[in-house]
Amino acid sequence: MSLAKWPKIEVTADKPYPIFLGSSLKELGDYIHLRFEDLEHILIISHQVVADLYAEPLKQGLLDYRVDQLIVPAGETEKSLERLSQLTTAALSWEADRKTLVIALGGGVIGDLAGFFASVFMRGIRLIQVPTTLLAQVDSSIGGKVAVNHPAGKNILGAFYPPQAVWTDFSTLESLPWEEVENGLAESIKHALIADRDLFEFFEKEEKRIKQREKSIWSEMVTRSSAVKVKIVSQDEREQGVRALLNLGHSFGHALETEMNYRGITHGQGVSIGIMAATYLANAKGLLTIEEVDRIKRLLNSFGLPIMIKEQDPQALLQRMQADKKNQGGRKILILPKGIGHAIVSKECTDSEILAAWQKVIS
Ligand SMILES: NC(=O)c1ccc[n+]([C@@H]2O[C@H](COP(=O)([O-])OP(=O)(O)OC[C@H]3O[C@@H](n4cnc5c(N)ncnc54)[C@H](O)[C@@H]3O)[C@@H](O)[C@H]2O)c1
Repeated sequence: MSLAKWPKIEVTADKPYPIFLGSSLKELGDYIHLRFEDLEHILIISHQVVADLYAEPLKQGLLDYRVDQLIVPAGETEKSLERLSQLTTAALSWEADRKTLVIALGGGVIGDLAGFFASVFMRGIRLIQVPTTLLAQVDSSIGGKVAVNHPAGKNILGAFYPPQAVWTDFSTLESLPWEEVENGLAESIKHALIADRDLFEFFEKEEKRIKQREKSIWSEMVTRSSAVKVKIVSQDEREQGVRALLNLGHSFGHALETEMNYRGITHGQGVSIGIMAATYLANAKGLLTIEEVDRIKRLLNSFGLPIMIKEQDPQALLQRMQADKKNQGGRKILILPKGIGHAIVSKECTDSEILAAWQKVIS
């Protein structure tokens, strides 16, 4: 058996690592045997619902190792220092050491939390990301960002900690509830909009088959969307330049989510409305035609993603954007689509232009 057996794309950053696309959870054990000669102990970190579905097939390939499993309750609030401390206590009680391998089995919450744990436990131990949500497969497991939250803000305590590998089994998405699918779709459509016109057309053309969860179409969607993120983080791992494009829709979306206190709006919905606000702003600045605006609107809408929000105060939302940690020297840094399949970083948007964009997405 050789490592070449499994289809992969590679993040070619400071520390390159493979993203395996479409291999089964059971086969991960074969990869681990080939890759790590000195391994004895594995710590699987997961949510109960995910572990119930997927820990067994994973463990079948790991019979030669001492395997412990840590279950974390679901939810964004679990990305906390308190949970990190509890993980540490449990890991020590199982005699985890510097040679332990962490497997993060779950969505972005598990990836960020278990990844941050791996980055600081005994100054850093090995990590494999096994993403099981669409968002995690196309986005959060790729790029090496790991973090926990702090009362002062989301992802305030974090690190760049590239994993040894990302192991993506498409079949885990079959059990994902549709509202979680939407979160991943918003990011995938964003990837298409900023960097891959063909992928945007794929979404337009394959809308029905995607909604029917056709396996071959989902494999293609995850593969192509992951490839966009891989390409961008390979060029700019530390977010000094092009990686900022991945924030399209997020400055607007984040302002909306915080203004609404994260109630009554999912992250994907926030991103979708944020993409629309950025789209209107780009149109006002002559970067997008009205036909392109309509295409973006139609595509988001066709997947049930919102393009407008009710009863919000545009001034309050503008104020929220003042606090965006990506701002520089009081200037708002916004990502704007430029045609379909391309985007730019703009520092030139005035408050009145941003306000006008907000007004277009508020009904
Ligand atoms: N590190 C990064 O670069 C990055 C990028 C984007 C988002 N994020 C982070 O990702 C997090 C959001 O991740 P998410 O959207 O995956 O949410 P999540 O991790 O909370 O998962 C959503 C829900 O789906 C369940 N679930 C996971 N896989 C499942 C499956 N296969 N079948 C059934 N249920 C399943 C989970 O238990 C959870 O209840 C946020 O904390 C965000 O900050 C990180």
